[in-house]
Amino acid sequence: MKAARREYPDLLTPAQIYAHLDQYVIGQERAKRIVAIAAYNHQKRILSKAGAKTNPIKKSNVLLIGPTGCGKTHIARNLAEALKLPFTVVDATEYTEAGYYGKDVEVMVGELLFKTGGRTDETQRGIIFIDEIDKIARRTHGARTGAGSRDIGGEGVQQALLKLLEGTEVFVPLNVTQHWSKHDFVLVDTSEILFICAGTFSDMPLIQHETNPVGFRDKKTTERSPKRRRVSTKDLLEYGMLAEFLGRLPVVVELEPLSASEMLQVLKDPPDSILKEYVHLLSLDEIDLRFTETSLKMVIDYAMKKNLGARGLRSIMEEVMHDVMFDAPNSRGKKVTVDKRFVARRLEKLD
Ligand SMILES: Nc1ncnc2c1ncn2[C@@H]1O[C@H](COP(=O)(O)OP(=O)(O)OP(=O)(O)O)[C@@H](O)[C@H]1O
Ligand SMILES: [Mg+2]
Repeated sequence: MKAARREYPDLLTPAQIYAHLDQYVIGQERAKRIVAIAAYNHQKRILSKAGAKTNPIKKSNVLLIGPTGCGKTHIARNLAEALKLPFTVVDATEYTEAGYYGKDVEVMVGELLFKTGGRTDETQRGIIFIDEIDKIARRTHGARTGAGSRDIGGEGVQQALLKLLEGTEVFVPLNVTQHWSKHDFVLVDTSEILFICAGTFSDMPLIQHETNPVGFRDKKTTERSPKRRRVSTKDLLEYGMLAEFLGRLPVVVELEPLSASEMLQVLKDPPDSILKEYVHLLSLDEIDLRFTETSLKMVIDYAMKKNLGARGLRSIMEEVMHDVMFDAPNSRGKKVTVDKRFVARRLEKLD
């Protein structure tokens, strides 16, 4: 252990990475720990490569599975911040198999290159977050009906991604925001790029059937929402992910839907939380902004009903705060308290 520390003095440890994530990401304990370990191994892999021809440490690309607004993108973004690595988010649905209308997968690397201002060395150590990965599952219906025999946006993209995920040298456009010509390409090695794929896989049949005999069910169990079981490799294969594709994503993590109390924490606790932002914004107008606990509970109840996870919180708060923000310059030096009645009145307008 000591030797390793001496050898890699600047590496953030899993505990340090976790501590950073923990400030910004509420709940998701398992995901934070697993991602921290994967990132630690990834750093070690980069360092152990120096000099060696073949790397003994495998790539620790990650697959995140979880409902909308539970923090998949948020964890990845904060991981990149903790490690001070360049980061880009791409949408799997925008890509197609090479030669078809749509982006080639190399463009993903181009997006990362763009984030680094065209610096190849930085790019080669960055993180690419591929969202909506469940949308490139193999489409079996297409083949059956004969409509489009090639699955250029599904299986074709998975195939195209195999090499990229594993590590290969690709020519990528230097500036993805412009139409490029042949001269604007640079060679990038993807073997040290960490890929984090994410999807909701929301239509995967994972509801565990109740095993209790009906007559013995007490009130508590019937009230509890049906239990989901863990996603297995078999589930992912049946869903339409290729075995070779999954083989290149050795770290699979499931995230949980956020509970009401976690949603409240998301609203209040992180250094960049929505409430802190409003309090700060209004303090610039010399307004002392307060929220009552019951008013916040009402916001959370409303957000939980929308089923968008923490994703819905910002737009709900924007609606709640509309008048306060509009009148802010006239409330200089005052104390403004947002209470339950105030929130109820604002949220009525949203329905
Ligand atoms: N666990 C969390 N802790 C703190 N904030 C969170 C958490 N989950 C979500 N958020 C907040 O909600 C926003 C949306 O979350 P995020 O983009 O991570 O959702 P997602 O899981 O990627 O969902 P989708 O599948 O819709 O892309 C984030 O920008 C963040 O502000
Ligand atoms: Mg996301």
